[in-house]
Amino acid sequence: MAKAPFKVVLSGDFKKADGSPTFPDFDISPLLDQPGLDCRFLERVDEIRAEQMADVDALILLTSRFTKNSIHPNGRLAMVARFGVGYDSVDVQACTAAGIAVVITPDGVRRPVAVAILTFMLALSGRMMVKDLITRDGPAGWAKKSDHMGVGLIGRTLGSVGIGNIGAEMFRMAMPLDMKFIAHDPYANVEVARSLGIELVTLDEVFRRADFVTVNCPLSDSTRHLVNAERLALMRPTAFLINTARGPIVDQKALTKALQERRIAGAGLDVLDKEPPDADDPILKLDNVIFAPHALCWTDQCFAGIGACDVRAALDLMQGKEPTGVVNKEVLASPVWRKRLESFR
Ligand SMILES: NC(=O)c1ccc[n+]([C@@H]2O[C@H](COP(=O)([O-])OP(=O)(O)OC[C@H]3O[C@@H](n4cnc5c(N)ncnc54)[C@H](O)[C@@H]3O)[C@@H](O)[C@H]2O)c1
Repeated sequence: MAKAPFKVVLSGDFKKADGSPTFPDFDISPLLDQPGLDCRFLERVDEIRAEQMADVDALILLTSRFTKNSIHPNGRLAMVARFGVGYDSVDVQACTAAGIAVVITPDGVRRPVAVAILTFMLALSGRMMVKDLITRDGPAGWAKKSDHMGVGLIGRTLGSVGIGNIGAEMFRMAMPLDMKFIAHDPYANVEVARSLGIELVTLDEVFRRADFVTVNCPLSDSTRHLVNAERLALMRPTAFLINTARGPIVDQKALTKALQERRIAGAGLDVLDKEPPDADDPILKLDNVIFAPHALCWTDQCFAGIGACDVRAALDLMQGKEPTGVVNKEVLASPVWRKRLESFR
């Protein structure tokens, strides 16, 4: 009997209501062109339904939820690949129990988010937003230009809470700026820190010493409100906070107060406590903050890169190779998974 084609499906939200692609830079042609591979889009649903998974080997998932109810009892599905690095929409425990690998795409976001952090740092240090405003004001605005002196970066200290995928890349990209690098990470890869010239310090020291405190750790019970009133009070009045990680890592009320009282120089925020924020949120009224709607890293290359990671994961799986970016690594040792991988070879 001929072998059934390897089947990859994409969640329905990869297409807009008019049928056009949500992310035109996500190139699925390697899947469409692969002999022996059948690639389809699912109907758009909030939560993936088990019957949609009956004859599927790999699912590429945008925003739909994948819960224990999404798992078909026939045990065919081998991989759920998220389009991005967040996976709170996936019941990882249920996937692990069913021998399904959950895959994310750190290779796709590393450079784009690191660039976003540097964009904030350069815009804040150069007083870019206010200079844009006064320029538009004509002669009266131009007359104010010496009121908005920027901050040179040479010898200044770039600090990070976390030096994983993105934090390390940020430092790597900042190397030509001749800054001092400090970071706190309880699980730091000491070799990476050493090779990038990063001094590993205590958490409070990052806040005390950095001219730019950047947040590059995951949101968890232990990092929620890690940037609180006490830590903000440690920062210098000339220092800036940059958060591209997750909003709730910062106590936003405390940050708003520190910024209102000019106890720190400013902030660059890609992420907020509530997204989208209420239009009357006081933080939105502040002139010492630059915002982005959780999208500063969104570029053609970002989505192309994320998509390429998921495509590679599906093709690897099809050839019986372990995909990269597996979150629930314990699944890789399970007999169900090993048997499945074997059957693809
Ligand atoms: N703005 C965006 O569009 C966007 C896109 C992708 C990722 N992110 C966010 O960026 C953050 C970093 O992502 P990543 O890919 O580098 O993750 P990662 O897991 O590779 O690195 C996170 C690092 O934080 C460290 N860490 C954990 N707890 C810590 C603590 N209490 N103090 C200091 N460090 C701690 C970990 O040891 C790890 O080295 C995450 O919050 C992620 O959700 C945002």
